[in-house]
Amino acid sequence: MNYKIALIPGDGIGPDIVREGCRALDAVGKKFGHSFSYTEYLAGGCAIDATGEPLPEATLKGCCASDAVLLGAVGGPKWDTLPGAKRPEKALLGLRGGMKVYANLRPALLFRQLSNACPLKSEIVGDGLDILIVRELTGGIYFGDRGRNAAGDSAWDTEAYSAEEIERVLKIGFDSAMKRNKKLCVVDKANILETSRLWREVAERMKASWPQVELSYMYVDNAAMQLVRNPRQFDVIVTSNMFGDILSDEASQITGSIGMLASASLGDSGPGLYEPIHGSAPDIAGKDLANPLATILTCAMLLRYSFGLEKEAAAIEAAVEKVLDDGWRTGDIAGSAADRTALGSKLVGTKKMGDLVVAALES
Ligand code: IPM
Ligand code: MG
Repeated sequence: MNYKIALIPGDGIGPDIVREGCRALDAVGKKFGHSFSYTEYLAGGCAIDATGEPLPEATLKGCCASDAVLLGAVGGPKWDTLPGAKRPEKALLGLRGGMKVYANLRPALLFRQLSNACPLKSEIVGDGLDILIVRELTGGIYFGDRGRNAAGDSAWDTEAYSAEEIERVLKIGFDSAMKRNKKLCVVDKANILETSRLWREVAERMKASWPQVELSYMYVDNAAMQLVRNPRQFDVIVTSNMFGDILSDEASQITGSIGMLASASLGDSGPGLYEPIHGSAPDIAGKDLANPLATILTCAMLLRYSFGLEKEAAAIEAAVEKVLDDGWRTGDIAGSAADRTALGSKLVGTKKMGDLVVAALES
């Protein structure tokens, strides 16, 4: 079977890592008899430079007509002074909204080979961390009304959610919990926000359909604290767009390896949008220093969620584990020279890391 993948390499290290992701996909395709055809599209800073727009119409059209979209990263200091509507980040929001991918799955996983990179004490981490954050992605304050008064000295951004928007993302939360440890925590600010009270009402209405899932609620300030105090209490967290943005960065840091974490954004039908959760790291772009593993693991999510290719996804994940087991590390996960000597690990660049994953897939 041939699958059509839209590629958005984007800015900074985006092209470096997307290239390695495609090599891993091709290797897995060869092994299991699938082929992937890629079409590249512009979005972000490079699109602003080429067309004046962060998200050209042809990009959104091409993405919506594909089977899945793989995105590297967008943004960089060059475009930071542009007005809001012309910034590279606008491309991300335009893609998310335009593709209607309302559920953003962000697993925060501590790889056992990288446990020394985890900043939490070992008694807190126990034998590992494995949390899934489900972030609502096409509503809330990111998409609500915003503006300024005529004098420009007063501004507003609005958080709004409909019961329907809440229900569809909660459903993904409940279903995800069923596939994991059957615990779902709705994170909100229901002591203050009316939208949060609606989230709770909808969750209460729905919970009877997932009797095996243990449902709980937590205020976001407490959740931020609990993530560092006792992260192992969480299985699946489901939350609004902005709270999810903030908590997923925190969750990624407690795993110590943001260069390893993947994400998938899904809607009801139509292609999913897949991106590593790290940014464009312009300072190391094109220098063969970026860690491609988050993107390679993102390709595994793409195979699993968009194409239903579970064996193939697992093969990529096993190849990454093997490379880590063998001691190969890019700079971000390598620790100091002394750590490397102590652990017997070896420092490699982007391309070599990609080669190693391909070799593990071929073996
Ligand atoms: C993320 C990013 C984006 C967001 C930015 C770049 C617009 O932080 O994907 O988490 O806030 O959603
Ligand atoms: Mg973020």
